[in-house]
Amino acid sequence: MFRTHTCGELRLSDINKKVTLSGWIQRSRKMGGMTFVDLRDRYGITQLVFNQDRNASLCEQANKLGREYVIQITGTVNARSNANKNLPTGEIEIIVEELHLLNKSEVPPFTIEEDTDGGDELRMQYRYLDLRRSCVRKNLELRHKMAFEVRRYLDEQGFLEIETPVLMKSTPEGARDFVVPSRMNPGEFYALPQSPQQFKQLLMVSGFDRYFQIVKCFRDEDLRADRQPEFTQIDCEMSFVEQEDVLNMFEGMAKHLFKYIKNIDYDRPFPRIQYADAMKYYGSDKPDIRFGMKFVEIKDLTEGKNFGVFDNAEYVAGICAEGCAQYTRKQIDDLTEFVKRPQIGAKGLVYVRYEVGGTFKSSVDKFYGQDDLKKWAERFDAKPGDLILILAGKTVQTQKALCELRLEMGNRLGLRSKEDFAPLWVVDFPLLEWDEETQRFYAMHHPFTAPKPEDIPLLETDPGKVRANAYDMVVNGVELGGGSVRIYDSSLQNTMFRILGFNDEQIQSQFGCLINAFKYGAPPHGGLAFGLDRFVSMFAGLDSIRDCIAFPKNNSGRDVMMDAPSPISQDQLDELQLKLNPLEK
Ligand code: AMO
Repeated sequence: MFRTHTCGELRLSDINKKVTLSGWIQRSRKMGGMTFVDLRDRYGITQLVFNQDRNASLCEQANKLGREYVIQITGTVNARSNANKNLPTGEIEIIVEELHLLNKSEVPPFTIEEDTDGGDELRMQYRYLDLRRSCVRKNLELRHKMAFEVRRYLDEQGFLEIETPVLMKSTPEGARDFVVPSRMNPGEFYALPQSPQQFKQLLMVSGFDRYFQIVKCFRDEDLRADRQPEFTQIDCEMSFVEQEDVLNMFEGMAKHLFKYIKNIDYDRPFPRIQYADAMKYYGSDKPDIRFGMKFVEIKDLTEGKNFGVFDNAEYVAGICAEGCAQYTRKQIDDLTEFVKRPQIGAKGLVYVRYEVGGTFKSSVDKFYGQDDLKKWAERFDAKPGDLILILAGKTVQTQKALCELRLEMGNRLGLRSKEDFAPLWVVDFPLLEWDEETQRFYAMHHPFTAPKPEDIPLLETDPGKVRANAYDMVVNGVELGGGSVRIYDSSLQNTMFRILGFNDEQIQSQFGCLINAFKYGAPPHGGLAFGLDRFVSMFAGLDSIRDCIAFPKNNSGRDVMMDAPSPISQDQLDELQLKLNPLEK
């Protein structure tokens, strides 16, 4: 038997027990005739004591042990004279009587403790060592627990978990596919699924009216803190449902997770906001509603005073930062620099201070008198002591910039605590998105998303105005999940493909399977998918989803531990009948 207890288990109630523990040496300290060793395993850390006076040779053996050596000890639990309040096992220690070296370790490339001296790249290269650190391990424990609770909830609701293929057909919509050459079918390629979308709709045709799957998805797109090339979805689909049924089912799932993981009883319905309002008031389809500071438009109040910037702008709007009228010149200059960054792209920032005395001071005093500024302040519902920040320009760009400014002010004012959760549904997304570059419409969600029945006539006359039965669940400014009610009528699906610019041949070659399946009695259906990585990192309060993935890719999509991707041998290429044709740099 390697152990009677784990390294996180023993307490004062175990005093005088004879125990055997196994684990890794986190560190050891020699103090006079005593050697103290911190022994670590997945469950915690226990202090071991080797006493020179009691057993000199054992102590000598202990002094030769290095960091991360794997040992087994047997000894007696003893009360510690100076308890360590930071450790659950901090009130006891083990007086060691027997020591077995199970394995040696090279000196690890970084210290394996909460505060490590290892940089990001090094820790990723030795991820298996990084995972020994409890702060990283905890994220994986949380991930396990969340996946478990998701399965418990969905199982209770009658969902079946069904696996779908990882080698599938490449379809051009959405992000870029990762492709896999086929040896048995030379010159042909599988694609890795960007999501099991078509499979889950086929399962609805098969009659599995409640499907889910915790599933790897693959997308070859530019990476960000909340994006990995391979990530995990909680993918779900239901038959004989309307949008309302889907929203209720998965609001229930989110509440289940809040309750059983975060101990938060969220008993109110999640707020719902239309896409158009999300853009109007927050400049984003994933608004962070932990705080207010909604956009207020004032273009009509600014006209005719010869201020060219506002007169020539398509859109003039701002936010009101409560109690910030005392912001110094330097603080306002900082904010101006912030909005002028190339990635935000505003030309400048106009401010109005509502002085505590009731007067106004602004950067556009030359053009607007006290009466004008008062009207603005009324529209903002501003009070003395508040600061109004205004941007102007083209509508969409300015909304995006104002969104960034709002989030920045939220950060500066401490309104975005990771302990607060503000979920909502964003609904009524546009069905289609016009792309200037290719001069065609793209499906905003995917080509199977159903238009709102009342908007169907607009498909022929003004497709850009058609709203979809599509929805996203957003928490704290992060899109955790999204989905839609699907088209199940083949003539409507064909109209949709036509608007997206596909001819009959393309429809048949790319979506033929689903279209044919729909001829055999497709039920009304709809669903959604959550990003499990995003859900876990939100609950863990992480800044990047990488930290809740055991073996993530870096920002260039590389696995630096395995060193992948990597070249393959000429034999492998020959077998696949592939010839490389590198582009000249
Ligand atoms: P969508 O593309 O919105 O929908 O994806 C669903 C959810 O998956 C997560 N997600 C990601 N997480 C990490 N890295 C990525 N690269 C990444 N891309 C997406 C997000 C997102 O909300 N088949 C549809 C769902 C449906 O209609 O049922 C789909 O895939 O949290």
